[in-house]
Amino acid sequence: MQFFVDTADVTEIRELDALGLVDGVTTNPSLILKSGRDIMEVTKEICGIVDGPVSAEVTALDYDGMIREAAVLAKIAGNVCIKLPLTLEGLKACKALTSDGHMVNVTLCFSANQALLAAKAGATFISPFIGRIDDMGTDGMELIGEIRTIYDNYGFSTKILAASIRTVIHVKQSALIGADVATIPPGTLRALVKHPLTDKGLEAFLNDWAKTGQSIA
Ligand code: E4P
Repeated sequence: MQFFVDTADVTEIRELDALGLVDGVTTNPSLILKSGRDIMEVTKEICGIVDGPVSAEVTALDYDGMIREAAVLAKIAGNVCIKLPLTLEGLKACKALTSDGHMVNVTLCFSANQALLAAKAGATFISPFIGRIDDMGTDGMELIGEIRTIYDNYGFSTKILAASIRTVIHVKQSALIGADVATIPPGTLRALVKHPLTDKGLEAFLNDWAKTGQSIA
């Protein structure tokens, strides 16, 4: 399973990348706002840190506008992945951009039928938003399972990018169900390593080690 980091905070991206945990990055207009940075400048910096796909989202709603904005974003770096909304115009732009050799992440997916359309439009990634579905009182993880089944039934190569991940449980469940990628907020990514028995065990080992009076040199 690949891990993308869901942020436009370059300090976080550098730190996590240095740990070897980052296969790519996803941003969106809200994350750009949070970063306080210019989209072109921050996306360029992120693309210089991470070798994998860096999703940058268009804001136009019509096909022509999306294609125009995609051309601007694609010029930033070779690893920019154009993020398009799951609308008919977005699907049309997805078909055109992927046919032209660009990576496309189709975002704001909330149903299996939407994911089917994105795969038919040749999307590189489909982003089902787990947390936002959970927020509505339904199980977002069920959607990941449905998409996995549909894509496997027909051999679609579109990768399932579990998005809107809020908890470590979301990450584990996405991996169990077979999502290809999870895009994870930095705090949640760091939290994956935590286990009280690891801390307790380490403390006990270090106490016993001190009693041996030895050092490894
Ligand atoms: C995905 O690409 C989105 O940027 C992100 O996962 C949305 O998450 P949110 O629902 O926590 O805003």
